[in-house]
Parts: sequence; C-alpha cells; structure tokens
Amino acid sequence: MVQPEKRTHQDLKYEDQSTGSRSSTVDLSTGKSTEDSDAFVPQVTADGSYTFFSPEFQEAFHSHQGAKLEAELKFVETTQLARLAHQPTLRLLDVCYGLGYNTAAALDTIWRVNPDCHVQWFGLELDPRVPQAAIAHHLLDQWPTTIVQLLRHLADSPTAHTDALPSSSPPLQPTTLPFIGHLLVGDARQTIQTVQKLGFQADAIFLDPFSPISCPQLWTVEFLAWVVKCLAPTGRLTTYSCSAAARTALRMAGLTLGSTPGVGRKSPGTITNFTGEHLPTLSIKEEEHLHTRSSIPYRDPNLSDNSTTIIQRRRQEQADSTLETTSQWKKRWLRQEKQSVDAE
Ligand SMILES: C[S@@+](CC[C@H](N)C(=O)[O-])C[C@H]1O[C@@H](n2cnc3c(N)ncnc32)[C@H](O)[C@@H]1O
Repeated sequence: MVQPEKRTHQDLKYEDQSTGSRSSTVDLSTGKSTEDSDAFVPQVTADGSYTFFSPEFQEAFHSHQGAKLEAELKFVETTQLARLAHQPTLRLLDVCYGLGYNTAAALDTIWRVNPDCHVQWFGLELDPRVPQAAIAHHLLDQWPTTIVQLLRHLADSPTAHTDALPSSSPPLQPTTLPFIGHLLVGDARQTIQTVQKLGFQADAIFLDPFSPISCPQLWTVEFLAWVVKCLAPTGRLTTYSCSAAARTALRMAGLTLGSTPGVGRKSPGTITNFTGEHLPTLSIKEEEHLHTRSSIPYRDPNLSDNSTTIIQRRRQEQADSTLETTSQWKKRWLRQEKQSVDAE
C-alpha cells in the first residue's frame, strides 16, 4: 500500500501515432513548427487528459490514473488553494513545471474563487521543450483560455538561469491577469538557490520530479533543504510521492509529514507543513516504514552528482545499516493484516 509510485507507461494507452497529425506539423494557432515538441508524444490517461512519456527518465509525467485529476487532487486540493485564494496575494513555487498542469490547475482554482488574487510565481524546469510541447499539442486547452495564454507566454519566454536574475530580467507580467512570475530553466539544484536568495517565501510548493529511483538528484537531503528554505512559515509543500527516503529528507528539513489519498487506487502522496496543524497524520504502518532501510535518504553533498553516484551512495549506506529491512517490515504487516482479517 505504501510502495512509492513510479509513473510507468505500461498501462497508458498510446495515441495512434499513424493518425498523430498533431506532431511534426505547423501549429495553426501560432504558426510555429512543432518539430521540437516531437520528442514528446501525448498519451491518454484514465480521466481523458493527456500526459507525455520521458524517453530520458523512462517514466510518464503524470499518474496513469489521470493527469489532470492528479494535478487537482494531489497538488491543488492538498495545499488548500481555494481557501488561500481569499488572500490578496498568493505565492506559488512549482518545482518541475513540466507541462504546466499543476500551475494551470492552481491558477484556475485561485481565480475562480477570487479573480483579484495576485499570484507571485516561480516555476523550475530543466527542459524548455516540455512546456512548449504541451502548448503545441494543445494539452492545456482543458483550462480557460486566459490561463492557456499566460502559460504560452511562460513557455515562449523562459528565463535562462543566471545569478543576476533580479536586475537583468524583470518578472513576466504578460497579460492583465494579476500575475507575476518567472519560469526558470535549468537544473533545479541551481535555480532553487536563486529563488531562495531572492527571499521568495511560498504559500504552496508543488514538488513534482520524476520518481526517486529515476531522478534521485531532486529527492536528496541537500536539495530538499533548499526547497524547504523557500516555504513560508505557514506554507504547505506537497508531492505525489510516499517514498520513505523522500519523506525522511523532508522531515530532516524540518517539516511535519501527512499522508494524502492516492489518485485512483494508487499509493498515498505526502503533504507537509512546519507545525503539523490540520495535516492528515501518517498511519502506524507508514510511520514504521520510516524506520526501515528504505527510509535512508538520497544524498548529494555538493548538489552536483549524477543519479548513478547518488543511488550507489545510498545503496552503500543501506548495506551498512542495522535498520529493519523493508521486506521484513512488509512481511510483518502482511501477517498482522491477515491475523486481523482472520479474527473478524
Ligand atoms: C513528473 S514531470 C513534472 C510534471 C509537471 N509538474 C506537470 O504538471 O506537468 C518532471 C519534470 O521534471 C523535469 N526535470 C527533470 N530533471 C530536472 C532537474 N534537474 N531540474 C529541473 N527540472 C527537472 C523534467 O523535464 C519534467 O518536466
């Protein structure tokens, strides 16, 4: 039940590529070639919304249970944006912006409640082709046109990472919408430091990298410590993952952990804040998971190692550990669960 969710593509239905006229053509609404976006082919998920599959990370960008549903349930609802939208200003940090679904769902919710809520926003993304492909394939058209136009501006004018950001590049204010923001393109291990140095304190942080095993560099103790420095004292950070290693790193960064329901039948996600107030607590089983070898976190002391090095470092630490193995923990819980079923 608490296995980390990897967004595999086995059960995603591929769009028929022989009829895929949306790729390698000219986008009629922009006149731009979609050649760059050909690296990403839309795949339908269970709620009818589309995702991409990453050839590099060998993983889907969203849950196959529903890409839009995941953005709404795991990111927007858990951070209580409908309630926060009554504030005059709301600050959002979208770590791993991707196709922009989490931001689109967030803005839609906020402005439905309060069209005047002023949103200050940072998005972090390594590969600018991803948001561009989402626009080229019209995947954001399920949200209001004003939001699509805004995200098109973000995709078309991302900010290359530079330490001189505040003076060299004014924040994007592309439309009459109450929004200022930057889509920072580069390795989030560097761009997060820029956001922190600007003193940005988010009311809500979306943490949405590929799974820990595919992209361990964005689940390390060191990276997450930087992310948590960008969270306001009353803010919430949310992620789809229930990985014990990720949860441990978030706890080490000073956050209290809560568990969110999975999308569809899938594993829970994680919601956090500094105080634990109003968080759905972890079950005893989930808490015990954080005392097994799976809970040994990923480490990247200089924020520069590749995934192989980071994985090997953790494997070594696990091999040297005296903690209960995760398979022992699993067996113990299977026995207990069987006994309580037998007793009924
Ligand atoms: C699971 S997808 C995010 C989906 C996205 N939140 C959405 O709503 O569409 C993960 C994203 O992380 C990006 N990524 C991978 N490594 C990164 C890094 N080191 N820094 C920043 N972004 C990275 C990928 O390009 C991909 O777009």
